[in-house]
Amino acid sequence: MSSRYDQVYADWQRDPETHWAKAAEGIHWFKKWDKILDASRAPFYRWYAGGLVNTCYNALDRHVEAGRGNQVALVYDSPVTQTIKKFTFSEVKTTVARYAGALRALGVQKGDRVIIYMPMVPETAFAMLACARIGAIHSVVFGGFAANELATRIDDAKPKLMLSASCGIEPGRVVPYKPLLDQAIQLAAHKPDKCVVLQRAEVEATLVAGRDLEWHEAMNKGTPTDCVPVAATDPLYVLYTSGTTGIPKGVVRDNAGHMVALNWSMANVYGVNPGEVFWAASDVGWVVGHSYIVYGPLIHGNTSILYEGKPVGTPDPGAFWRVITDHKVAAMFTAPTAFRAIKQQDPEGEYIKRYGRAGFRTLFLAGERCDPDTLHWAERHLNVPVIDHWWQTETGWPMAANCVGLGMLKVKPGSPTKAVPGYDVRIVDPQVKEVPPDQTGAIVVKLPLPPGCLPTLWNNDDGFKKSYLDEFPGYYKTADAGYRDADGYLYVMSRTDDIINVAGHRLSTGGMEEVLAAHPDVAECAVIGIGDPIKGQVPVGFVVLKAGCKRGPDQIVPELVKLVRDRIGPVASFRLAAVVKRLPKTRSGKILRGTMRRIADGEEYRMPATIDDPVILVEIADAMKGIGLDKAASSRLQQG
Ligand code: COA
Ligand code: AMP
Repeated sequence: MSSRYDQVYADWQRDPETHWAKAAEGIHWFKKWDKILDASRAPFYRWYAGGLVNTCYNALDRHVEAGRGNQVALVYDSPVTQTIKKFTFSEVKTTVARYAGALRALGVQKGDRVIIYMPMVPETAFAMLACARIGAIHSVVFGGFAANELATRIDDAKPKLMLSASCGIEPGRVVPYKPLLDQAIQLAAHKPDKCVVLQRAEVEATLVAGRDLEWHEAMNKGTPTDCVPVAATDPLYVLYTSGTTGIPKGVVRDNAGHMVALNWSMANVYGVNPGEVFWAASDVGWVVGHSYIVYGPLIHGNTSILYEGKPVGTPDPGAFWRVITDHKVAAMFTAPTAFRAIKQQDPEGEYIKRYGRAGFRTLFLAGERCDPDTLHWAERHLNVPVIDHWWQTETGWPMAANCVGLGMLKVKPGSPTKAVPGYDVRIVDPQVKEVPPDQTGAIVVKLPLPPGCLPTLWNNDDGFKKSYLDEFPGYYKTADAGYRDADGYLYVMSRTDDIINVAGHRLSTGGMEEVLAAHPDVAECAVIGIGDPIKGQVPVGFVVLKAGCKRGPDQIVPELVKLVRDRIGPVASFRLAAVVKRLPKTRSGKILRGTMRRIADGEEYRMPATIDDPVILVEIADAMKGIGLDKAASSRLQQG
């Protein structure tokens, strides 16, 4: 098929409002909008102002009413519990309607927040949809975060209700969630009224009398409740993501813009038809899970897979191919890190050969840059197009992609292809001047952002402006850096802030530094992300101890590792730290984290003109070698 991409992109650019009015016909409206784009409070833009919708109605009820009731909506495939369950659209609707009634009975009203701290079980998706049904705002917190991170989110979102489970299941270990939930509520200043806890067979949680309720008692007995019309611009959810400090940012998602964008993307980016099976192998705690496990596929009438397992070890590196074959997956989405993990255990793709994968058409990768090696390996062994695409928690759907549904463009390894219609992506210098092809600059998106992207941060318009809009007036700052080649293909190379990407998980090194600095023996510290063959990046800490501290690295380092695990969570993958005499700094006191990273990765580095004392870089390289960062030995000072 010849590509319609150029035409659709040009049409959108010429008349964005008509483009988004047409796309909005793909969803159900209780009342149509008064204005497609409300720019009256620019740079705070709102899409479909005046419209009335319900996201749950669009994800479930309208499909049942249109005759899709017997189609499977959700497949729960859980190798860690040896379970496969399928739920039709009718069944999901019935359960979600009951859950919605139960939430009401627990005092949750439209606009109230509900925090969902749960593993990858169907009840999690049902709970999200139940919130949407009554206009409550959910905030899902990823299970790999520690109590402290959960407490921060409780204090910001101020939920009326918490929904949780007794445990999550990781390969080889069960992770009890309830102690983390209890600790988080104790740490938080805001106290939710009630907690509803799903008891899983693997662990029984102790319930707090008067506050905690057992899931089946509370949720399954709710009075079935209809969808409530909400304003198009009302928030559907708040999802916290790492910022440059330990305080996460509450990304707000509205109802109508989100639905329109996801529905459009299922057809035009992912190229799937209603009725087909779509699988995003991620977690509902991340944006990928929100957009492409729960909302996108269901709104578009697809069957979605909720997979409670890993790419390897559950039980072997053939897990993905089994799921694709068993459930007839048409298109799959995951992070490159998952493929690196599979490639490491099955370099020749022997497990791939064991499964037919009939009907599997396209693999989508995102969450981090897809290295060309991984891309080629996947293409060679799967024999389908492998599409790198680029987006962020903030945008909620892809900013750049090879729009398969519009007919594919040529794949260039290392590039997520071109801007998706809706996004005017530019590469600029600090003066907001566009740079020529092949020259690296800040990647920004001309305002307004399309429907589906964050309209603001939760209760924090100022923070939204400061983080995203102030530095490049008229543009949204992605905090990614990269370039465009002469054919207009985009290359996203690195972050411009202290965010690192660990196994596709977005983490703040600034947040980890705050934790290390809280250790009583630490005078100052730096955390950098260094290259890792599987996870892409992993964090490494460097600490200077307080004068007079008599304790050595053997005692301090394990304490630091434990501290990060306890305060941020195992997901930080913080395992390496070195005690150093001093940190390399500029004369003005700025720690040279970029130079440290280049040394750790064995790259050439420049001697910063403003460095305080160049000898420190030699000391740092030695300290790196001392903790096994062997590449530091091959880093060289760039001559000239
Ligand atoms: N609840 C509790 N703990 C969790 C968790 C959860 N939901 N998810 C991860 N963890 C823990 C892990 O058990 C691990 O703990 P450990 O230090 O005791 O081993 C730690 O957090 C780090 O997890 P992870 O980064 O996932 O590393 P891993 O070695 O367990 O697995 C991969 C590595 C690549 C297989 C895995 O990250 C993966 O499947 N990634 C797929 C891509 C993905 O999900 N991306 C998200 C955005 S698309
Ligand atoms: P998250 O908000 O967790 O989805 O992380 C978003 C960040 O991940 C982006 O700002 C990028 O730094 C990175 N990222 C996501 N997808 C890609 C991609 N395809 N190529 C390069 N970087 C990516």
